[in-house]
Amino acid sequence: MKLILFGPPGAGKGTQGELISAALNIPTVSTGAMLRAAIKEGTELGKQAESIMATGALVPDEVVVGILKDRLAAEDCKNGFILDGFPRTIPQAETLEALGIQIDCVLSLEVPDETIIERMSGRRSCPQCGATYHVVYNPPKKLTSQCDVCGAVLKQRDDDKPEVVKNRLNVYHKETEPLKAYYEGKGLLKSVVGQPQVEETSRLVREALGIEA
Ligand code: AP5
Repeated sequence: MKLILFGPPGAGKGTQGELISAALNIPTVSTGAMLRAAIKEGTELGKQAESIMATGALVPDEVVVGILKDRLAAEDCKNGFILDGFPRTIPQAETLEALGIQIDCVLSLEVPDETIIERMSGRRSCPQCGATYHVVYNPPKKLTSQCDVCGAVLKQRDDDKPEVVKNRLNVYHKETEPLKAYYEGKGLLKSVVGQPQVEETSRLVREALGIEA
């Protein structure tokens, strides 16, 4: 399956992506995670992206498309993949088509802005492996501030600061949300209303995608 996980920042794309990836045995390809990795490695691309991401704006299409193309050509993507955070603009969606990539489904997670702001303030991320937690809704199972997967100390992402979150939401509504109509017009859009519990959202996601529990 070639799936796009769509939704505003903090809607739960990363959280649901991990669960779908495990269920279908296909990788999650997150452009945000790839950009954060480039920043950590101090590459030229990372340096270019860092200051843009810190404001909540979008990294230029050609930069993101460049890293995505290489990733989708990798062996583990040949049986399908989950795109998390891509496309974010109409030109990015058109690039997927130009590359001959046929998407099977676009799953939109619907979460109101007020809930997003609350979720982002409580999100903690693993700087090592990228796993995501929430201090109340999805805390680590072992130790409060330690990643269950790799044991690294959890951090708050720089772009989860309230003023940056506000800008990310504005950018989403202006530049990314129009993609819903774009994919609806192609008959690919399915929507799931994000629930207060991760488990309940996962159940609805599985139902929408026809994945058995
Ligand atoms: P990116 O990393 O893609 O961030 P995002 O889309 O803003 O999404 P997030 O990772 O913030 O949230 P999420 O939806 O994955 O939610 P999560 O599962 O963590 O992008 C970052 C930046 O990179 C962009 O701003 C941009 O600058 C750049 N970029 C990336 N891609 C780009 C592109 N294609 N073009 C241009 N620029 C690009 O959940 C959030 C929190 O809520 C967590 O704490 C989680 O535990 C909790 N939670 C999840 N589900 C639930 C639930 N059901 N109930 C309660 N809590 C929940």
